[in-house]
Amino acid sequence: MDSGVGGLTVANAILDRCPQESILYFGDTAHLPYGDKSRESITSYTLDIVKFLIEQNCKVIIIACNTAWTVAGKTLQEHYGWRIPIYSVVEPLVELVRLGSYDSAGLIATRATIETGVYRQRISALRPTVSLRCMATPLLVPMVEEGYAQMDMGRAVLDGYFKEHTLGEIQALILGCTHYPILKDQIQSYFPDVSILEPSTITADYLSRRLDDLKLRAAENNQPHNRYVVSDFTPTFLEVVKSFYNREIEVEIV
Ligand code: DGL
Repeated sequence: MDSGVGGLTVANAILDRCPQESILYFGDTAHLPYGDKSRESITSYTLDIVKFLIEQNCKVIIIACNTAWTVAGKTLQEHYGWRIPIYSVVEPLVELVRLGSYDSAGLIATRATIETGVYRQRISALRPTVSLRCMATPLLVPMVEEGYAQMDMGRAVLDGYFKEHTLGEIQALILGCTHYPILKDQIQSYFPDVSILEPSTITADYLSRRLDDLKLRAAENNQPHNRYVVSDFTPTFLEVVKSFYNREIEVEIV
């Protein structure tokens, strides 16, 4: 699940890595963007979606939304963690920082994600020597969802955030929102010598291992059936999806 199209960056990698699996993707377009909402609202939306996914007989849930996980992950695990494995994109991203042995990293994410301090806690637990600088970039989610990413208006927003950014000298930049990989090339152009870290491939690898550990992997000859549901139909949704998602999709409203 994600608040909108962003989690499809992770779904893409999961379907590449585990082509025999079926996915049910939930984009909570009625409540997007999450990043500026209260903790109570984000938690309530996320709990409702996870309940829905469990009712649809999902075997594993990936919270492909940093905001939902950093704000509501603990509550989610308390409510549903005993019923179904629930994974996030946060732990795999933190693992990338550890694997890269970076000493300095930047984090861009929604305001809500940064305010939780979850990335700072997790990174300092795994690699205490990293100096982490954080910057909230709240306009990037609506910009992607509205399809402005490739337009002059999008360029102006990116310039505003990154031309004279406050992240200082960094070796790696964590894209702490699943919408941001859609802008990866544009973001990289402001940070030419910096490693851009995004969670899709490592999350797919992690999930693949977990499916084996839990003996939940679908049979090799399984014919996958992928469903994409949204909580509201927004006119730009399908157009934006087409611009980066490698698969044909039909969208249902629930
Ligand atoms: N893709 C979500 C995330 O990773 C976007 C949150 C939002 O809707 O503001 O945080």
